[in-house]
Amino acid sequence: MDQATGYRPDRHPSESYEDILERDTRAVPDHLRQGPTLDLGDGGIPVTDYFDPQHFADEVRHVWLKVWQWTCREEEIPEPGDVFVYENVGKSLIVTRQADGSIKAFYNSCLHRGRKLVDGDGHRSHFWCKYHGMSWTCAGRFRSNPIDWDFPQFQDRDMSLPEVKVATWGGFVFVNFDPDAAPLMETLGPLAEHFERYDLADHYKALHVSKVVPCNWKVMAEAFMESHHTIATHPQLVPFLGDVNSQYDILSDHVSRQFTATGVVSPTMASRNLSDMAILQAMEAAGGGSDAEEDDRARTGARDTPKAPMTLQDGQTARTYAAEMTRQALAAEDGWDYAGRSDAEMMDALLYNVFPHQSFWAGYAPNLVYRWRPEGLNPELSVMEIIILKRVPKNGKRPAPAAEHRLRLDQDWSDAPSLGALAKVFEQDMENLPHVQTGLRSSGTGVVNFALYSEMRIRHLHVKIARMIADGKQMLQQGHVLPA
Ligand code: FES
Ligand SMILES: [Fe+2]
Repeated sequence: MDQATGYRPDRHPSESYEDILERDTRAVPDHLRQGPTLDLGDGGIPVTDYFDPQHFADEVRHVWLKVWQWTCREEEIPEPGDVFVYENVGKSLIVTRQADGSIKAFYNSCLHRGRKLVDGDGHRSHFWCKYHGMSWTCAGRFRSNPIDWDFPQFQDRDMSLPEVKVATWGGFVFVNFDPDAAPLMETLGPLAEHFERYDLADHYKALHVSKVVPCNWKVMAEAFMESHHTIATHPQLVPFLGDVNSQYDILSDHVSRQFTATGVVSPTMASRNLSDMAILQAMEAAGGGSDAEEDDRARTGARDTPKAPMTLQDGQTARTYAAEMTRQALAAEDGWDYAGRSDAEMMDALLYNVFPHQSFWAGYAPNLVYRWRPEGLNPELSVMEIIILKRVPKNGKRPAPAAEHRLRLDQDWSDAPSLGALAKVFEQDMENLPHVQTGLRSSGTGVVNFALYSEMRIRHLHVKIARMIADGKQMLQQGHVLPA
């Protein structure tokens, strides 16, 4: 039972994630223990929320322009004058490092007739508009105007580039279009506290792949907010994933999370009595190289390095064996010591979501980051990004951040060979999504229905969006000026 709310959702009758933590070979940090839940009712959600242009316009105005969203990693703009162009819901921002090391974000729009000032990432000594040649310093001050004789009105006006709020956490640069937004740390709250142990600032971006997908951004986000689609969508994972007995918590108004154990058989397969060795073999088979990697090997004539046979010691389970292998592999890769880190942190999917669209994996093996956004202003097209953060090696330089590999609508995740075995899993997820979008438009009831416990986080996403839209409209009625 949740002490704060008194709400006790029904759970899967098999062992819980807490039960699995009890068998950990190391001390488990307190923050991995069961968190609060919320009773959000059992009503359906209108299918129009996923495609209606008016609902989308309300989301843009009352949600997207009011939430903290990360733009890039700090290591992508290390020097003064380095620029990252961040775009979302039709807005473009120039995120740039200042001479004093701080970071500013300016609306990427010329104050003359609106041309984008900066067309792409890179380094600038100033921002020069390609249309009529006006320019601004990297600090946003008006710098020059080749036709100033015709703009006497600029003399007594503030012609500085308008800014949006900027804050950093974990090596990420966040922005918020709302000048009245509460500080970022109020949004991150429990996540920032729990992630102190994982120190994402001391990581670098080792992989960044994105893909345009024909579905609403929430359809995509929701595909990564519960684990019980594994049975139908990723059957190869079922022998070693605690899917239906995952733990779901709502930690704050902005942060929710789910924990899914790895190296344990799904309760849906419990009757088959899989041996630990069979679980390990299933893990190894699912983690094999992608087709693209195999093609690469065939082309180059490279051979797989022979692997040592898996041998379980007395008392070792598939989970504890795999956790130990991960500890050793990571330590060999980055030089850090993982000996005291829990099996859970070496093995499990520990996904923390920050409303409305970003997800950070806790633990060490290694840290994935997901992000889902609309593609421009199209409610039925979105972009998913997958990032892998790796710890900066203990005795080495910080590696250069990976550039984004952006896949088009007609490409598959396997067209990004760096994803390896992950590509297959994401491809399986994506196969559903266009059919969800068209299915929603075909609905005979006009609503979608969510499971009470396992889909509590998804319901929370919708409840919070609806609340923000209602609050925003009320503020407009009261004469408040909102970001436009
Ligand atoms: S639009 Fe930029 S100088 Fe004219
Ligand atoms: Fe999935």
